[in-house]
Amino acid sequence: ATGAVTLDPGFKNTGACKSEITFLDGEKGILRYRGYTIEDLAEKSSFLEVSYLLIFGELPAAAVLEKFENDIKKYTLVNEEMKNIIDGFPKTAHPMGVLASLTSALTAFNPQPVDVNDEEELYDTVCKTMAKFLVIATWTYRKKMGYPLNYYDNTKGHVENFLRLMFELPTGPYKIDPVIVNALDKLFILHADHEQNCSASTVRIVGSSHAGLFASISAGVSALWGPLHGGANQAVLEMLEEIQANGGDADKYLAKAKDKEDPFRLMGFGHRVYKNFDPRAKIIKKAADDVLEALGVNDPILNIAKKLEEAALKDEYFKSRNLYPNVDFYSGIIYRAMGIPTEMFTVLFAIGRLPGWIAQWKEMRLNKEPIGRPRQIYTGSPLRDFVPVDKR
Ligand code: SDX
Repeated sequence: ATGAVTLDPGFKNTGACKSEITFLDGEKGILRYRGYTIEDLAEKSSFLEVSYLLIFGELPAAAVLEKFENDIKKYTLVNEEMKNIIDGFPKTAHPMGVLASLTSALTAFNPQPVDVNDEEELYDTVCKTMAKFLVIATWTYRKKMGYPLNYYDNTKGHVENFLRLMFELPTGPYKIDPVIVNALDKLFILHADHEQNCSASTVRIVGSSHAGLFASISAGVSALWGPLHGGANQAVLEMLEEIQANGGDADKYLAKAKDKEDPFRLMGFGHRVYKNFDPRAKIIKKAADDVLEALGVNDPILNIAKKLEEAALKDEYFKSRNLYPNVDFYSGIIYRAMGIPTEMFTVLFAIGRLPGWIAQWKEMRLNKEPIGRPRQIYTGSPLRDFVPVDKR
């Protein structure tokens, strides 16, 4: 095409596609999955029910949800040879890097590309992805800890399995705390989709070349890893721990975040779309209070986070740029109270975001979206003749 090109770095003003999945209103702080408010879903639904809603478009009747949960269980055994792949990683490897590799490796054991027009085959592939991803995500932690890799227990629920896969040791029973199961279920719902965020757009553009679902999800994991995106939840805790180590001086970090010479940004603050507040942050902040109280955890980091939020919300620099706490600001505090290590925070974000990535990949393929191939504005060298090496 020779038409004029409109430059739009970061696609701040570009609508990449039409979508029926998630609705955001950044001014009003509205987030809805398939028309249902995030407040209702976080309060009344479950992670697998919301996963079904996002992927298939409707809240499932009880029998349909039960079938979905059972169909996921058909695929919860991961090929034992996948263990050879994870054994190749050093313990120091970041779990997100291991997860991206293992997700892509799933293609090796499921090479058959899915026929998106075969409804049953697509449904089975969705169930397989939901099952295998949860298991391999927990394997990244087990590998780091030098623990044996656990198996999904088909007699237990999906979120309870996450906890067992993560923490159950052969040396003794693992006690499931319903407070933690409920809080995790809510957190996974809050992370499940967010329209054309960086990682969902990545899944769509990789899938638009008709690369497979596992390969597209693997690319989404890599995009989410970045500290400006899902990696922020880990970066928030590291920032809060640093503030705590420096005597809790939040103002110093606010000043750093405002200093244009310093690349430091206040992690967990700001958002491309939400210019008032992130509705998920409000729900997670309340959940943090509830979970820490229920677990009897009094974490000074939570108080530092609240002090930092208070100071930032009063600060002219932040106010004038509409910078508010986002989904990543408080989530890590809950994960930490549950005993989840900081390096695993973004893996939990990926587990929550998986149904959103699947839903968007499915929509992109069923809508027969064209391959993603933007143009550019060339600012390089004008035409010039080749210079032989002895003349350079
Ligand atoms: C997620 O897109 C999604 O929906 C993402 C997500 C999802 O569910 O998928 O919501 C999940 O990724 C949440 C965001 C997590 N990231 C962080 O918390 C990292 C810190 N936040 C920033 O990096 C930033 O706010 C972004 C990346 C989130 C948004 O960046 P934008 O929209 O590109 O905004 P910008 O970089 O153009 O910033 C606008 C101004 C700039 O100042 P000026 O150049 O105008 O003077 O605000 C400043 C920025 O310097 N700014 C910040 C800041 N965020 C923006 N200054 C200090 N601290 C910050 N956190």
